[in-house]
Parts: sequence; C-alpha cells; structure tokens
Amino acid sequence: MYRDPVQSLEAPLLPSSATAMRPLRVGMIGIGTVGAGTFHVLARNQALIAARAGRGIKLVVVCARSLARAMNVVGKDVALTNDPMQVATHPDVDVLVEAAGGTGPARDWVLAAIRAGKHVVTANKALLAEHGNEIFAAARQHGVAVAYEGAVAVSIPIVKALREGLTANRIEWVAGIINGTTNFILSKMRDEGLGFAEALAQAQALGYAEADPTFDIEGIDAAHKISLLSANAFGMPVRFADAQVEGITALQGLDVACAEQLGFRIKLLGVAKRRKEGDTEGVELRVQPALVPATHLLAHVNGSMNAVMVKGDASGVTMYYGAGAGSEQTASAVIADLVDVARLDGTHAGQRVPHLGFHPQALDEQLAVLPRAAVHTRHYLRVPVHSAQQIEAVGAWLAAQHVPVLQVALAHDKALPPGSGPQVLVLTDAVAQATVDLAVHALAAHPAVAGPVVTLRVETLEG
Ligand code: HSE
Repeated sequence: MYRDPVQSLEAPLLPSSATAMRPLRVGMIGIGTVGAGTFHVLARNQALIAARAGRGIKLVVVCARSLARAMNVVGKDVALTNDPMQVATHPDVDVLVEAAGGTGPARDWVLAAIRAGKHVVTANKALLAEHGNEIFAAARQHGVAVAYEGAVAVSIPIVKALREGLTANRIEWVAGIINGTTNFILSKMRDEGLGFAEALAQAQALGYAEADPTFDIEGIDAAHKISLLSANAFGMPVRFADAQVEGITALQGLDVACAEQLGFRIKLLGVAKRRKEGDTEGVELRVQPALVPATHLLAHVNGSMNAVMVKGDASGVTMYYGAGAGSEQTASAVIADLVDVARLDGTHAGQRVPHLGFHPQALDEQLAVLPRAAVHTRHYLRVPVHSAQQIEAVGAWLAAQHVPVLQVALAHDKALPPGSGPQVLVLTDAVAQATVDLAVHALAAHPAVAGPVVTLRVETLEG
C-alpha cells in the first residue's frame, strides 16, 4: 500500500502553499473511450499515482451527452453536466481534460479553460495539429500548461522523450508507425488475407479507429501526430497544413506482394526529416505508405502497435514501441500528463518544460516544410509492360531520365493476380521526387508501358 504523500513526507520537503497540499481537481469533457479509461485507471491506481504526483488527483466534474451513461461509468460522487463550458470554467477545476475530440467546439472549450486559468490535458491530436499554435500562445499568455502526451502514439511517451530525454541532441529525423488502425489493417491484409473493408470494420469494433475513420485510412491522423513530433524535434511551429499526406486507400495488394518479393514490407509511415543540402534547407514532413526492409525493426511492428524512431546526433537512433490506440493505453498518457500538472501547478511558467520543447522565443518560425518536389528518398516503381523482354528498356530509359536505378526485376508470377500482364519492378537510389515525377510522366508515353506506373517511397531509416 502506498502511503499518503502529504502525510508521510517530512515537513521540510513539503511545498508551503495550500494548493500543493490538496488534490488536483480535474474537470473532464467527454467520457467515451479516452475519458472512461482515464477514470478507471485513476481509480484503480489512485494511491500509486498520488505517491508519484505528491498529491491526489480527483475527478470532480464530467460533461457528457448522456448523463445516465456517464453515471454508469463514474458513479454518484462526480458532478455531471451537459454543458462543456461549465466544466471548462468551473471554479472548482484546476485542470481540464478535453476527452471529447473534434476541433471546432473543442478549441472553444480549451481556450475558455485557458482564459479561466486552468491547465489543459488533451489527447486530441487533430485539435493541436490545427489550432496548437494558437492554443499554446494563449496558454503562455495565461501562465498555464497544455499537456498532450496522449495525442501521439498513446502508450508511448514519445513527447516526453523528445522534449526531455533527448534535449542534448540535434534531431535529424523522426519516423514511425503512428496510426494503429492502418497498421492493424495492413497487418490483417498481409497476414490473414483479409479485405480492406473487413479489416477496417475489425479495427473499428476494437475501438482503434477515429470517429471518422477517413482520418485514419487517408493518413490525416498520422499527419496530425507527425506534425506535433516535428515541432518538438526541430523547434518549429506546428505545420500540419504543409504536411504531404497520403493514406492506404489507393494501395494495391499487388504492390504489397511485389514489395515482399524484393525483400520489403509496406507500412504507413509518418516522417519528419531535417534537410540541409546546398540551398535546400527545411523539413520533410510527410505521411505515406512506404517500403521498409523486411529485416528492419519497423517491418515487425504489427497489429495496432505503434513504433517511433528518432535519430539524434549524439544518441544515434533510439526506438520506442507500444500500443498506438486503446482506452487504458491512452489513459496511461493522459494521467502521466495529469501527474506532470500536479507537480508543476503553482510553479513559474518559465521553469516548466515548454509546450513544444523549445522556449517560445527560440522557436524557428522560418523553418519551413519542403515542397513535395524536393523530398529526397529512394523509390520503388512498378511498371506494367506489354512483354517481359522490355525489362531492359525500362531500366535503361529510367537511367537516361536521371533516375538512379539500383535494381530491376520482373514480378514473379505468384505475386500477380490472374490475368495480369508482366510487371517491371525498379528500386532506385535516393532521388528528388521532382525527378521521379517527370520520369513517370514521360514513361506513360513509352511504347513498352502497358498501364499506370505505381511509385512508392522506400525508407531505410538507418543509423
Ligand atoms: N485512430 C487512432 C489510431 C487512435 O488508430 O492510431 C489513436 O490515436
């Protein structure tokens, strides 16, 4: 049994203010997957959490659409209301947990709470990707904290790792599998041969998917998350609007099979990479289905699991792995943020970990996202041809178009669906997207080519 921290600490160690002695009072908007998980874990690990925080953490008021359903979750000791603004500005609330999701009303509630002097904890990546710069500025103005560990790869403390554990490093890149739903779908399609729709329905039934699963399958959710990680890695504002986003809806099973033949697996990756080459300086910020070597650790991250890799100049590559979705998995992060708030409440704002890991005056407002044409990676191309003999012609033609060809192969018959013609598979060395786009555009008119050319990026993510 953990001892009550307030009773058991030696008197000189105790903060003198009464604020630090009483429990941190939490108001919560939303008691769905995230909210209910947070309530259950807070209740189950109450003493342990208080022992770590130095004070209790107590849910005092919840806003829910259905009060009866909310009462079923939290019981009779927590006040209930239908009015989110009442929670956001409640005089008995020290910290607002925004667990409702969405961006419009959630922005208003969060800003109202900040103006009322409340700290905010949220796992709402869409909100912070779209309105984070505004919300963090308001929080600075009012001297409160906005904590969001649960917004990225829920169970993995990656925001803390970037903001605190890796502060010595010049970060070169951050990359990972940061959407559980799409990773679940890709794993089911590859391992069990499920169709896309069936795999998506399973992910939804397990509570992994967003309310609008388009956000998952079109890569938007992953883009929200990588935009937040990029800001923390490179000391730039949140630049979600500039991210290049591609989901998995256009991905063909044929390419999954052809990638396997070449020794790769396809994963939906979020990538933020700092680049400085000659006149090109900026950040690649992108989400796309990409080939990773089958031997790479990321290739073995399956189901709804997430993994993030960070390359720092001093640390080298570090990797973080854990559940990317789920009720208590998200609660783990939300409560970690509440513990942080319980510890920092009453301290001077300048002494706290900055919202984006860099002091606001030190954020590089000029550091921009590079345009798609400037993104520089290896590529996979699949070129449908009229005859297998044309393999050499395709390779030579691409090389003549300044595409650095590393390997050319014919797709094995077992990778091809019945009735499909021959397919030339090409792996390139690193090359600007603009060069690939021009070559593919011109290739469409080549007499050897029998259909649309597919291109996917290849990420080796080496130390
Ligand atoms: N829909 C998200 C995912 C939930 O699948 O990863 C956690 O952010």
